[in-house]
Amino acid sequence: VAPLRVGIAGLGTVGAEVVRVIEQQQRTLAARCGRPVRVVAVTARSKAKKRGVDLSGIRWAKSPLAIATDPEVDCFVELIGGVDEPAGPAIEAALAAGKSVVTANKALIAKHGLKLAALAEKHGVALNYEAAVGAAIPVIKTLREGLAGTDIHRIYGILNGTCNYILTRMEQEGLSFDACLKDAQRLGYAEANPAFDIDGHDTAQKLSILASLAFGTKVAQSAVHVEGITSITPEDLRAAADLGYRVKLLGVAVRTPQGIEQRVHPTMVPKTSSIAQVMGVTNAVTIDGDGIPPITLVGAGAGAAATASAVVADIADVARGIRAEPFGRPVGKLKVITKAPMQRH
Ligand code: NDP
Ligand code: HSE
Repeated sequence: VAPLRVGIAGLGTVGAEVVRVIEQQQRTLAARCGRPVRVVAVTARSKAKKRGVDLSGIRWAKSPLAIATDPEVDCFVELIGGVDEPAGPAIEAALAAGKSVVTANKALIAKHGLKLAALAEKHGVALNYEAAVGAAIPVIKTLREGLAGTDIHRIYGILNGTCNYILTRMEQEGLSFDACLKDAQRLGYAEANPAFDIDGHDTAQKLSILASLAFGTKVAQSAVHVEGITSITPEDLRAAADLGYRVKLLGVAVRTPQGIEQRVHPTMVPKTSSIAQVMGVTNAVTIDGDGIPPITLVGAGAGAAATASAVVADIADVARGIRAEPFGRPVGKLKVITKAPMQRH
């Protein structure tokens, strides 16, 4: 059987791990997909950089665009990040060339996801972005496929591993915000520009993607009320603990009679609640559907292994020939509104 020929642009925290996992899991992947999966081309900024992964036998392409348009690549995997050059145009070129695309890029999907989805549909190829939200947690599949028959009225959770890691270590070890952020960067959890994490925008991007899938609305990142965690100190966390609370950065999207409300802000949650037990880089997403008890998914929300797990699963879907509609079509007249945060979710 012909192998799926994969080209990867971006060999940082996530990209290098994806190459390693595909190599290490090749037998399992071939068995699960019914055909081999091979990385045939890669690229990054620096060819000389040591990446702790064996790239011998893999072609080095001159640019992301060169991989995206390479006739010997079937599936283009974008692991660079950012909404503009080179990630965005390369994805568009790959879709236009009839290649399926896998990406972990929430910034790009939150901004241009619907346009890219239309392009993917036009060319009959897949646009898979499971790793963009909750890293190892299969929340996109759960919403898009597992809950296709469920009317969802609320989705909320901890969607940023860096922030939860910082809040956890500040609370448990009394460390400074800056020291915890540095560790999160060293461990490969933070975005290239960590302001996206700590200012709440990464959570907002993820929330708007989830809300779009859950409620059948357009992705509306600009309609998210956003507050980050930069002003929180170890003293604040101690004061909350004295009152029986823990502080978590939550993303909350709710269907209300006025429209879909989306907000991101630090929230005091009772220490005894299940969401308060979610510590470190772990993420958790709770989905409230009509007629069923809430479903909560918990798992590693950032880092090389967690993210590669979801990226490789998306590649496996391409190898199997599974092509889900990336977003679904907007339903009804639901509008997305911006509203001041409430203290309770
Ligand atoms: P890194 O910063 O570690 O890696 C980025 C890679 O892109 C590097 O290999 C870099 O090259 C390459 N790159 C940057 N600019 C260019 C360019 N102009 N041309 C070619 N290559 C380029 O990022 P991550 O691996 O952490 O993240 C990648 C994506 O995954 C982002 O969209 C991020 O949001 C997303 N993501 C990350 C998670 C994580 O836990 N880290 C979790 C979920 C999603 P070089 O190495 O030579 O500098
Ligand atoms: N910087 C992101 C986080 C990576 O910390 O959650 C995972 O999307």
